[in-house]
Parts: sequence; structure tokens; C-alpha cells
Amino acid sequence: MPTTPVTLPGDVVDLVRQAHSITVFSGAGMSAESGVPTFRDAQTGLWERYDPAALATVDAWDNDPALVWGWYLWRMKLVGDAQPNPGHRAITALADHRTVMVVTQNVDDLHERAGSNVISHLHGSLFEPRCSGCSAPYHGTGTRLPDGFDITSYTEPPRIDPPSCRECQSPVRPGVVWFGEALPRGAWQRAEHAISGSDLVLVIGTSGIVYPAAELPERALAAGTPVIEFNIDESALSPYVTRSVRTSAAVGLPALLDALGE
Ligand code: APR
Repeated sequence: MPTTPVTLPGDVVDLVRQAHSITVFSGAGMSAESGVPTFRDAQTGLWERYDPAALATVDAWDNDPALVWGWYLWRMKLVGDAQPNPGHRAITALADHRTVMVVTQNVDDLHERAGSNVISHLHGSLFEPRCSGCSAPYHGTGTRLPDGFDITSYTEPPRIDPPSCRECQSPVRPGVVWFGEALPRGAWQRAEHAISGSDLVLVIGTSGIVYPAAELPERALAAGTPVIEFNIDESALSPYVTRSVRTSAAVGLPALLDALGE
């Protein structure tokens, strides 16, 4: 992962300087330098033999809710122990001199903890558990790994029974969008509105292979809105975006702020 300072192309800096309203569209690469594994990184440690795409499904939940709930509690702890990185903070600073609307595919809260106002969590949030039966938001106990819980002492993923909804006694589920589930209508509509109302889109750290989210930068391009991608690798969007900058979020975004003199 590039950690040396980068010099961004002048035309990229000029596009940002000229923009009045920017949509930041972020993916898992945004949080990678905070130590939160990207979705398609090999699962590490206890989870290495579990395919995240298999765990993040209704079938996995129906088959083994305690395994899925234990995985999400582990992910919540991982995020809770992580800190926003300089890329998150640069996005917050970018909003000091222009409108910045954050639309994220990430289910972590690192943009918020860096001070950004996230207008859309397209795939939900780790921190908004809800009832699997009546969808009531759940604010009770049992949504954190117990204090002092040492996951490194486990040789198997911790199976932890989810709490029960106080309204209907159904099991509480993670407040995220699983493969095959519809995106939250409000989150989708807010994201569409942001894209249509922006004069620049910054795409940060996404492989661009999951729809409908990946359709959003495509809509911007189709409307003639410039789209700049920051990614350490080629993504599915790279051939189509206005400019694709090969740098990491935590290096490239602060470099952008420096180049803007902000
Ligand atoms: N800086 C910038 N980009 C990075 C960094 C980094 N430090 N580290 C990794 N990347 C890039 C990778 O090159 C890759 O293109 O981030 C992208 C991560 O891709 P994925 O793991 O596929 O994550 P994402 O694009 O967010 O997945 C979209 O799919 O699996 C579902 O719901 C899940 O929200 C997720 C969605």
C-alpha cells in the first residue's frame, strides 16, 4: 500500500478546485488504512475459511444465526477498536470550503467519527441492529462482544446467540444489507439525489463490482459529471472514470487537500 506522499495530477486538483458540490462515494478501501479489512481481502484469522459473501446472506443467517451474529459482533469490535484514517479526516476537511455529500457502501462508522455527515449508508450500518421479524430498531443489550472478550483465545468463530426483539421476540439481526436484499429505499434515494446534484464525484476505494451501488458513478458519467477515482489498484470503474489516481485513501486525499492549499 503506497505510503509515500504523492503529487496529484494538476487536472485532478483543478477539477476539485472548480467543484461546488462534491459527492464522495466510498467503498471498503476507504477504511483499509484504519485496519478494517476490505470486503474481498482474504478473511483473516478465525474467519479465513469463511467466505464473507457466504456469511453476509439471509441463508447463512437462517442456517446459523449464532455464527452470523458472532461474526458481526467481531466486525463491530474491529471497527470500534479502529480509528478514522487521514483519508476520512481529509474528506471532513474538504467540506470546509464546499458542499460534500458522503455516500458510502461501508457499514462502519469511521466517516462519522471523522466528523463527516454521511447522507447515505447504501448497505446499512453495523451499529443499527434491528428485529429480523418486525424490523423494529433494537437498542437493548447483547449488541457488543462482552468486555474483556479476547477473540484471539478462540480457535473457532464465536457463536453467540442474538438477542430477542422486545416487540415480537424474533431474533435481532445486523442492520446491514445482505446479498440479494434490497437497499434501503431512503438511502438509495438520498444517494441518487446527491449524485444528480453534484458537479464532481470522488470514488474512493471501491472495486465497483456490486450493483446497484456501482451504478451511481456510471450515472454521474452519463450526465457529464466528472468522476475521479482514488484506488490502489485498477477497479471495474477505472476504464470509464474521468481520471483514475493510483493512490491510497489515507495518502491521496490528504495530498489533495495540500494541493488545494486547504
Ligand atoms: N485506498 C484506496 N483503495 C483501496 C485501498 C486503499 N488503502 N485498499 C484497497 N483499496 C481498493 C481495492 O483495490 C478495491 O478496489 O478498495 C477496493 C475494495 O473493494 P471491495 O473489497 O470489493 O469492497 P467494496 O468495493 O466496498 O465492495 C462493495 O460489496 O461485498 C459487498 O456490501 C459489500 O459494501 C460492499 C460492496
